[in-house]
Amino acid sequence: MAQRLIFTNDVNRELAAIVDRLHPSSLFLLTDTNTSRMVRPLIDLSATHIVIPAGDEHKNIDSLQHVWQGLQQGGATRQSVLVNLGGGVVTDLGGLAAATFKRGMRFVNVPTTLLGAVDAAVGGKTGINYGGLKNEIGVFAEATDVVISTCFFSTLPSTELKSGFAEMLKHALLTGSDEFDRLLDIDPERLSPENLLHRLQVSVMVKQRIVEQDPHEHGLRRALNLGHTVGHAFESHALACGRPVPHGYAVAWGLVTECVLSHMMMKFPSDTLHRLAAFVHLHYGHFGITCDDYDTLLTIMRHDKKSRQGEINCTLLAGCGDVRTGITVAPDDMCVAFDIYRDLMGI
Ligand code: GLY
Repeated sequence: MAQRLIFTNDVNRELAAIVDRLHPSSLFLLTDTNTSRMVRPLIDLSATHIVIPAGDEHKNIDSLQHVWQGLQQGGATRQSVLVNLGGGVVTDLGGLAAATFKRGMRFVNVPTTLLGAVDAAVGGKTGINYGGLKNEIGVFAEATDVVISTCFFSTLPSTELKSGFAEMLKHALLTGSDEFDRLLDIDPERLSPENLLHRLQVSVMVKQRIVEQDPHEHGLRRALNLGHTVGHAFESHALACGRPVPHGYAVAWGLVTECVLSHMMMKFPSDTLHRLAAFVHLHYGHFGITCDDYDTLLTIMRHDKKSRQGEINCTLLAGCGDVRTGITVAPDDMCVAFDIYRDLMGI
């Protein structure tokens, strides 16, 4: 059964209803050290509490073992339920812990970041980092329910909100020009919780509809990689150079570059590209690259999970909502796209 998505400003009422419906033999709550301090006090749930250290560097086998231990020591059974309260690390790792404990127990995701709500918590990808690679170990396993609320976002730094907003831009580009136009009218630094909850619902449903058709990413789900071939390369390059950038910022710059490629290869409309680039430049600044970075970026893209036989592979658009997955991009075309990205960003 597809996971239930619940959009609400009353998380406690919804959680109570979910617990009533799932009727678990015992209830467990997973947080990281941040959500333990900032969010746990807002949640009215009687559960065995398991805490992992905050940060992507702790999305690893040690934290996973810690969750398994907590479940085992707390007497969890296959009829128990784990509630994952946190950002993408907590929902990804908690989902994997639950999916593998006693061959699988149910779990509920309550994302506390915009990035988590719009992407990680929805769609059944669980995992941890391993051997220096992100999300290397994991399984597809859907939460029974995902409770999405903007009530946790008021304390998030604006970089965090903008990071999530970039994934909303991606979903809007995948679905059509009306939603894209609406998002470009929003200032992501001044997001009103009410308006955001509605826009978030529209955005998450774009992902949900895709995931329902292709849960295990055999084809259509690759649409969700829009902006990510280049975005991941920017993110990895930035990290290797000791100047890490937030994931969503890299996605925003990746969206611009991949819409340039879409224009070059698929006739994606030039005015939409220019409006996207202006929005991204205004709110995200730019990722500064020179010609000297191109070879490194191409090498990273050839080693991307999505790449086949060392070719660079992208999702592109012939227009808003007109998606082409699995497009091979020649290195020379990618270099031209980098040149145009730099022009658009005033670099
Ligand atoms: N984050 C992309 C996906 O869930 O497929």
